[in-house]
Amino acid sequence: MKVVILDDADAVASYGADIFREQLQAKPASVFGLATGSTPLKLYRELIESNQQGDISFSEVRSFNLDEYMDLPPEHPQSYRYFMDEEFFKHIDIDRSNTHVPPGNADNPLTACREYEGAIAAAGGIDIQLLGIGRNGHIGFNEPTSCLASRTRVKTLTEETIADNARFFSEDETQPQLSITMGIGTIMEARLVVLLATGESKAEAIKAMVEGPVSAWCPASALQMHPATVVIVDEAAASALSNPEFFKHIERHNQALLARIKA
Ligand code: GLP
Repeated sequence: MKVVILDDADAVASYGADIFREQLQAKPASVFGLATGSTPLKLYRELIESNQQGDISFSEVRSFNLDEYMDLPPEHPQSYRYFMDEEFFKHIDIDRSNTHVPPGNADNPLTACREYEGAIAAAGGIDIQLLGIGRNGHIGFNEPTSCLASRTRVKTLTEETIADNARFFSEDETQPQLSITMGIGTIMEARLVVLLATGESKAEAIKAMVEGPVSAWCPASALQMHPATVVIVDEAAASALSNPEFFKHIERHNQALLARIKA
């Protein structure tokens, strides 16, 4: 697990966006696993800008989102499909039919979960999986106690996650308590995982993920076993780490090595 600690949320977004830009230049027909939440918004805006300036293209990209609320139709403003369309897809040159979000309103969610896994496999697997992290260490909607080998499935949300996401729902809207989410096993198969976290509210989750035992109690800790995960955090999200200076030291060496290779 590579941990990169940067000054602020803008720097986190740029570092993450660079990884996607480089991937697109190397492989225009990349398969991206995408995330919702407020954390990746700045990264999406950077990619939109690069796309609109003609530096990168998403025309051959296929995408698979991590998760979706159950029982919300795609046109519902709180659905993750709506979020992705509004915040990202409609501003870039991606073919909307190549974008996938778990079907939260499927008649048979169990079949839909299997089909989602099948579609990811048929696309050749995910090249880069983008992640945020919940305050309780969840990734996607894999809440604490999730099986670390889980596949796409229906998952019940914790009280904490429901409370954290309540801010997006108005009082007269029923907030879903169930979701469809890629499993931790699904996420672990991505060739590269890029996890972003900003702000002090994520500090304990980051500490548990990076330093804690690999445990279903902190689902993100499974990424300690992933061969290529980059965790990009700002100073506030890194503030509970025991030894942030060591990660900065490693990153300085990584950058020097990269400069040497490119020279
Ligand atoms: C939701 C999503 C997660 C996301 C998390 C954190 O629960 N299912 O994928 O990482 O929220 O969201 P935020 O980035 O807004 O803190």
